[in-house]
Parts: sequence; C-alpha cells; structure tokens
Amino acid sequence: MASNIPEDRVDPRQIPVAALADGSQIPMVGLGTFGSDHVSADSVAQAVEGALAFGWRHIDCASVYGNEKEIGRVLGRVLKTGKIKRDQLWITSKVWNDMHDSVGESCKRSLADLQLDQVDLYLVHWPFPNYHAPQCDVTSRNPNAKPYIHASYMKTWRQMEQLVEQGLARHIGTSNMTIPKLKLLLQDARIKPAFSEMELHPHFQQPELFRYCVDNGIQPIGYCPLGSPGRPERDRTPQDTNPLTDPMIRDIAKRLSITPAAVCLKWAIQRGQIPIPFSVNHYQDNLRAAIGVRLSDADMRAIAGIDKNCRLVKGQVFLWKQDQSWEDLWDINGEITPP
Ligand SMILES: NC(=O)c1ccc[n+]([C@@H]2O[C@H](COP(=O)([O-])OP(=O)(O)OC[C@H]3O[C@@H](n4cnc5c(N)ncnc54)[C@H](OP(=O)(O)O)[C@@H]3O)[C@@H](O)[C@H]2O)c1
Repeated sequence: MASNIPEDRVDPRQIPVAALADGSQIPMVGLGTFGSDHVSADSVAQAVEGALAFGWRHIDCASVYGNEKEIGRVLGRVLKTGKIKRDQLWITSKVWNDMHDSVGESCKRSLADLQLDQVDLYLVHWPFPNYHAPQCDVTSRNPNAKPYIHASYMKTWRQMEQLVEQGLARHIGTSNMTIPKLKLLLQDARIKPAFSEMELHPHFQQPELFRYCVDNGIQPIGYCPLGSPGRPERDRTPQDTNPLTDPMIRDIAKRLSITPAAVCLKWAIQRGQIPIPFSVNHYQDNLRAAIGVRLSDADMRAIAGIDKNCRLVKGQVFLWKQDQSWEDLWDINGEITPP
C-alpha cells in the first residue's frame, strides 16, 4: 500500500451507497481510470493504490484504457494483505468494440489482468462494434464501421448474460446507450442491465435518459462528472463548456467553502447517479467531497437549471457513413438512426 497515507483518510463506511435489487450495495462514487494519452498506466495504477489506501472502494476500469494489468498488480497486492477484502471492493470493467463477438474471452482477459475471479460489473462499452486505434483523431473513420444493429447487439448481450450465469460478472450493464436502444434491450434481455454508464455533469444532465433508467430499475453511472477538464485537445470543440467554471457552480462552492469539483460530485450523488471522476492528483479531495457537506434542495434546483445539453464525448469515430453528424449516434429524434 502507499506509504504516505494521510491521517484524515476516509472511513469507507461513510461513503454513500446505492442498494441494488439483489440486496448488494455499490459505493456512490467510483475512481475513473481512463488516463487518456496524458497519464501513464503506471501513474493511474499508483493513483488506484493511493486511492484504496485513502478509502476509495469502487474503481471504474476498461480493457481499452490499457492499464488493467498495472491496476491488477495493485489489486492483487492489496487483497493479499487482507486489509481490504474482495467483497469490500467494487470493480467494473468493459468489453471494447472489437470484442463484441468474443465477450467471454474479453472478460476473462480483463479478469486475468485485474487478478480477480469475478468483476462486480461488466459493461458493453459502446453499442457500436467499431474498432478505431487508440488516440486517433476525431476525424478518423473505420471503413468497416457499422451502425447500431439490434440483432447484433443482442448476440453480444447473450454473451453478457452468460458471464453472469458463469459467475464471471455479478452484474451486467450498458454504456453510451439511448432510450430507443435501451427500450429494445429491455424488451429482449433475459438478464436486464442493472447499470447504464453515460456522460453526466451539470452541463449535460440528460434528464430524459436519466429518468428512463431510474424508472426501469437501471442505476445510472455518470462519466466526465467534472466536465473532463484534462481531456486532450483533439477531443475539444469550440462549443464545449466547462461546469467547473460555471458561475452558479462557483457561487455555491464559494458559499459552502468547497471546490467547484466538490459541488459537481455532490450534485451527482444527491441526484442519484454514481460519478466516476478520474484523478491522479485530486482523488483525496474527491472522496472527501463525496462524504462532505450536502447541497440544499434550492442548490440542487439551481444546478438543474444550468444544463446546457453540452455533450463532450461525441463519439465521432464511431460514425459509419460519410456526411454524418455525431448527433446520428445519439438518436436525438427519439428513434434509432437508420443504417
Ligand atoms: N463509458 C465510457 O464510454 C466512458 C467515457 C469517458 C470516461 N469514462 C470513465 O469516466 C471517468 C471520468 O471521465 P473523465 O476522466 O473524462 O472526466 P472527469 O472525471 O470529469 O475529469 C477528470 C479530470 O479532472 C481533473 N480533476 C479531478 N478531480 C479534480 C478536482 N477535485 N479539482 C480539479 N480537477 C480535478 C483530473 O485531473 P487530476 O488527475 O490532475 O486530478 C482530470 O484531468 C474516466 O476515467 C473513465 O473511467 C467512461
């Protein structure tokens, strides 16, 4: 474990939890591990080690983040000490787009890398089976890219269901879905998704999708909860806004003597989504924020009013035809965009 553990580390029993239908519980805040191209795998693993020592108990991983082996060495070490028991940890991983036909193989590889027998949650990372090279530019396109095809997604989902049956995953879920796609999945799934991971922050609140998930017993997990301030230049557009500099967020932060990041995290938890902030430098602050001062109902309402419908992760690289707009990936007319 990290040697410089501060005295004021958080007692994990203080972290808010969400209760699941099967009686298990998930910590309402998780550590993101996508270092993009600016944080090395070893640095992310070091942050995971420090975060676990500090009190974090929920880690959001994915094979495509390229660091599950390094994180696995940390998990293996920590679990071996016996200071943290496996059932006190929540570990998520995800199948990447080029493995939709080989979900079992992908999950087993992640388990081996993470040095685990079972993940708590396994997600289909994107509903498009399109490979693109890591760190490629948003203008890059795969000539074999495919649209969403429900029959294909269900083939992938059947393999996800088998993971639960085989005991390799406790729960399964989706990511980057839309209401029309989830409707089809809920209609056809034998094991329904227990979670859906999506972009959620004060400038992108996705109220309809959020409500749809909650109404259907799907727990929302919110990525980019701080508006992803460290994302690479290639993933930015001039229209993007930053919730951390929003005057409303800053006013609330000032009044409560907390940081704008803490306001974003508290808003997420109190609203009912599980934020998964990435951090190698602020993870102690972020866990303290999660157990810290509550926002008032008036502050929650005020933040509900600053939604800018500003999607940061647009997914351009998954487009499958020339002359498409990234909006086509997100079914904004309420129907799945035709092939
Ligand atoms: N399912 C999906 O398709 C999907 C897509 C995107 C992301 N994700 C997941 O969501 C996680 C989070 O998303 P993200 O990393 O894009 O965005 P984010 O968590 O909103 O932002 C992370 C950035 O914020 C900084 N930061 C963290 N805490 C801070 C604080 N208290 N004050 C100021 N800055 C702070 C971090 O810097 P420091 O490192 O310097 O602290 C980092 O640069 C990812 O790591 C990944 O696990 C999933």
